[in-house]
Amino acid sequence: MDKVTVRAPVNIAVIKYWGKRDESLNLPLHSSVSMTLDMNTMYTETTVERCQGGSSVELNGVAGQPNNRVQRVLTKVELESGENVNAKVVTLNTFPTAAGLASSASGYAALAVALSSLYSLKSDVSVLARLGSGSACRSVKGGFVTWDMGTKCDGSDSTARQVSSSWDSLRVLVCVVSSSSKEVPSSLGMQRTVNTSGLLEARVKGIKSKVLEMESAIIAKDFPKFAELTMRDSNEMHACCADTFPPIQYMNSTSHSIVKFVHSYNEYRNRMCVGYTFDAGPNAVLVCEEKDSEDVEGALLSIFRKGVAHPACALKGLAGTVEKVIKCRIGGGPVVENKRQKVDQKS
Ligand code: PMV
Repeated sequence: MDKVTVRAPVNIAVIKYWGKRDESLNLPLHSSVSMTLDMNTMYTETTVERCQGGSSVELNGVAGQPNNRVQRVLTKVELESGENVNAKVVTLNTFPTAAGLASSASGYAALAVALSSLYSLKSDVSVLARLGSGSACRSVKGGFVTWDMGTKCDGSDSTARQVSSSWDSLRVLVCVVSSSSKEVPSSLGMQRTVNTSGLLEARVKGIKSKVLEMESAIIAKDFPKFAELTMRDSNEMHACCADTFPPIQYMNSTSHSIVKFVHSYNEYRNRMCVGYTFDAGPNAVLVCEEKDSEDVEGALLSIFRKGVAHPACALKGLAGTVEKVIKCRIGGGPVVENKRQKVDQKS
């Protein structure tokens, strides 16, 4: 019996995906851009094994049946391989699931790469990952990745493309504000925004040029430009959420204090040292350059862990509002641990 284990990374969008034009194929209304984080602390490890009598999924030690999204991926594998797919999927996240920490992205990327390897599929693996979760298509590659929206109805051109493989001096600080589950799942949130927000229409019109600007900033490793575009895009996505009716609020008071901290820190240092971005949850992801990372982290920990004001920012009374800070760099794509290992062989 064959089995494959894959480790896949988390990606954080710097131009966010928010809105689908096709719900069942996870086709987006616009393109998006992300950075892939290294797999030192955060990753999903998934083992897929051929089995008999139906597929099963075990997520972080809890056994269950494949949900609709996993089923969609398995059906696509059946179509492409021409085989009857019965798979035992065992998956482990090293960070909280569904807390706005992009666990679905690394999760479905790991599943797609494992299935693609096990069933020797020839097609673009980002398409398979996308069927599980839109943002997952960007986790099948390392570095900086654009998910091109594509125009075809079948989604075959809605795929991930690497923009740049690295940015050695870039540092990413993932600030865990809350590890509880999201209030409004992203798919539901997007649907509501698409149906009710006029601001989203304006966002979609302007996003093509923003994607190009972001790609240029990444290729040129222009940190001030990169950080500003990242913050502005996060603000715009959350403004669309606020414009949704009834409104959606993913950021909490700590998130807003982190935004204040970042702007006040940059003002204090008189240059762009740090930027922020928020997904569908209250956790902040900060970007900075290596030369500033220690000082930024020190100021952050002082205010949000110890509750002590810092010369760069006078915020007080926020002790313990950030649970922890995970330091990352830009990392590579998924790793197949044991390609088509024969587990029934005695050796
Ligand atoms: O792929 P989903 O359904 O988990 O949606 C991801 C949405 C955001 O994380 C908020 C933005 C993004 O591009 O990753």
